[in-house]
Amino acid sequence: MSSNLTWHQHTVDATSRAKALGQKPLVLWFTGLSGAGKSTLANGVEQALAGAGKHSFLLDGDNVRHGLCSDLGFSDSDRTENLRRVGEVARLMVDAGLIVLAAFVSPFASDRQLIRERLPQGRFFEIYVEASLEACESRDPKGLYAKARRGEIKHMTGLDSPFEVPASPDLVVNTQALSPAEAVNKVLEWLEKEVGLDASAD
Ligand SMILES: Nc1ncnc2c1ncn2[C@@H]1O[C@H](COP(=O)(O)OP(=O)(O)OP(=O)(O)O)[C@@H](O)[C@H]1O
Ligand SMILES: [Mg+2]
Repeated sequence: MSSNLTWHQHTVDATSRAKALGQKPLVLWFTGLSGAGKSTLANGVEQALAGAGKHSFLLDGDNVRHGLCSDLGFSDSDRTENLRRVGEVARLMVDAGLIVLAAFVSPFASDRQLIRERLPQGRFFEIYVEASLEACESRDPKGLYAKARRGEIKHMTGLDSPFEVPASPDLVVNTQALSPAEAVNKVLEWLEKEVGLDASAD
């Protein structure tokens, strides 16, 4: 980092932006195997938040790889850089006053921890979207597991790349035990009770 850089303190700050939007900005980080249901769940939660007049943004793994991270692959170091960038974007969005939902496999605990540490205290919530490898592989909504089994793609999380199960997530949602609608409701109830974010419609 250059020693010639100076942080400019702007007049309109994070607190005033959050106040203008009338909400507490935070990050809901959905982690889990491919096919566990992160995008489905985050999308359902965001829909409810939007219905309640909240200002949000959903950062989704595949989507950022089209642009912001289009130069990155799936090696360990590229996954770490992918999440570092996404974490910085989430941080900017929290600064802008938004409720950020992030749906990334994010298999390494250290990457998730770094993002938590880059955010103000109490603004990062880790939601483990849990489903067994067998369940994810039988869903295989993108056909990725089949491709990996055929040897067409490498570094598939759960097969030839590890997934580090969160040691102390803020919430666990098991998508084998719950329907998509029940899973969304579980997050909404937890948001209201534990985070103080009411997503019931205005
Ligand atoms: N309770 C549930 N919650 C979410 N998804 C579920 C649930 N039950 C079954 N599913 C199904 O599981 C699949 C999950 O796919 P989804 O794309 O949301 O996974 P993902 O975790 O975002 O995967 P990827 O990391 O590859 O993007 C979908 O086909 C969805 O219909
Ligand atoms: Mg997804």
